[in-house]
Amino acid sequence: MDTPVSPTVACIGGGQLGRMLGLAGLPLGIRMEFVDPVDGAPAGAIGPLHLGELDERGVIGPCVERATVVTYEWEGVPAEIVSWIEEMRTPPVFPPAAALRASQDRLHEKTLFRQLGVGTPDFLPVDSPADLDDAIAKLGTPAVLKTRRGGYDGKGQFVLRVAADASTAWAALGGVPLILEAFVPFDRELSILAVRGRDGATECWPVIENHHAEGMLRVSNAPAPGLTPERQRAAEAIANRMLDELLYVGVLAIELFDVGGRLLANEMAPRVHNSGHWTIEGSVTSQFENHLRAVLGWPLGSTESRGVSTMLNCIGVLPAPADVLTIPGAHLHDYGKSARHARKLGHVTVVADDAATLRERVERVLAILPADG
Ligand SMILES: Nc1ncnc2c1ncn2[C@@H]1O[C@H](COP(=O)(O)OP(=O)(O)O)[C@@H](O)[C@H]1O
Ligand SMILES: [Mg+2]
Repeated sequence: MDTPVSPTVACIGGGQLGRMLGLAGLPLGIRMEFVDPVDGAPAGAIGPLHLGELDERGVIGPCVERATVVTYEWEGVPAEIVSWIEEMRTPPVFPPAAALRASQDRLHEKTLFRQLGVGTPDFLPVDSPADLDDAIAKLGTPAVLKTRRGGYDGKGQFVLRVAADASTAWAALGGVPLILEAFVPFDRELSILAVRGRDGATECWPVIENHHAEGMLRVSNAPAPGLTPERQRAAEAIANRMLDELLYVGVLAIELFDVGGRLLANEMAPRVHNSGHWTIEGSVTSQFENHLRAVLGWPLGSTESRGVSTMLNCIGVLPAPADVLTIPGAHLHDYGKSARHARKLGHVTVVADDAATLRERVERVLAILPADG
């Protein structure tokens, strides 16, 4: 037997994604340890939380030594630490550092999608005001200027409505490597979550429809309403090309724009993803369980849906548990974080057998979700 009876998974990062990975692992006898710089980080409720920076070898090293396999729950984890663990060869670390590196630089990421024959918004690198003028001339407006690295939840972005916005955009973001993207007049935003095992087996969940506000995910509907088998296959083809290219292991999320029926890749996250939280109740196997199965070299579980689901993020404020729990099919997840404006504190997933019942239940949840102060 090459896997110990009680495997230990070391996870770099101890936020809510680590916490939900840990929760999925408990019934399978999986122990998890976490490294995070924040005392009281959400995953500390599940397993030992070692305080340290996400590239602090003195803290991560001993954790790696005890582990059966190493993973991470944030795409901001410095790629050097993942490469360092990869170079040790044992224990293995998944997803591979190459996937992390690709996802950390929007230029690298979009170039990789294009190399794989996957459509993306048109883009150009921008490193100077002259580059920006040139890129605007080529891509037109509206356009989105983004930092190549470090952006999340819409941070590090500036939408240019007209070419004359260039100087304001440069003043807001200039000085670090940037990318200008043509603004895509998409019909809706979608995502595909896929998982690849150590044996190369892959599974995809149904395509998800996502609604953002102020750069943050608010609502996910799964499967995406009106999803055709052709669109599902097209999204799976994109995911599978990326998984195979990177010899990926674990869950990969790809954000897509649906433009008149055509799918364009916007970005990817080499980890479990907010748009996959519905899988805890809405799928035969959750993204968290399948990520653990994948990194441990265990068989993947079915990604079939159980009915239809809507996931609502609780941002800045949580509802009263009893208010949620009176609503049939509603499931509350409290990440155990202190409340702060614009902070993801938890989510509610609503499941139902049919769309009409789901809509009625979601309305009831929306009515009791407090507004973010
Ligand atoms: N090229 C684009 N055209 C139109 N909308 C965009 C474009 N790029 C980003 N957006 C909008 O901004 C949101 C956040 O951008 P994204 O690239 O996903 O960065 P983040 O890392 O912050 O999630 C997207 O979900 C989408 O709503
Ligand atoms: Mg995004």
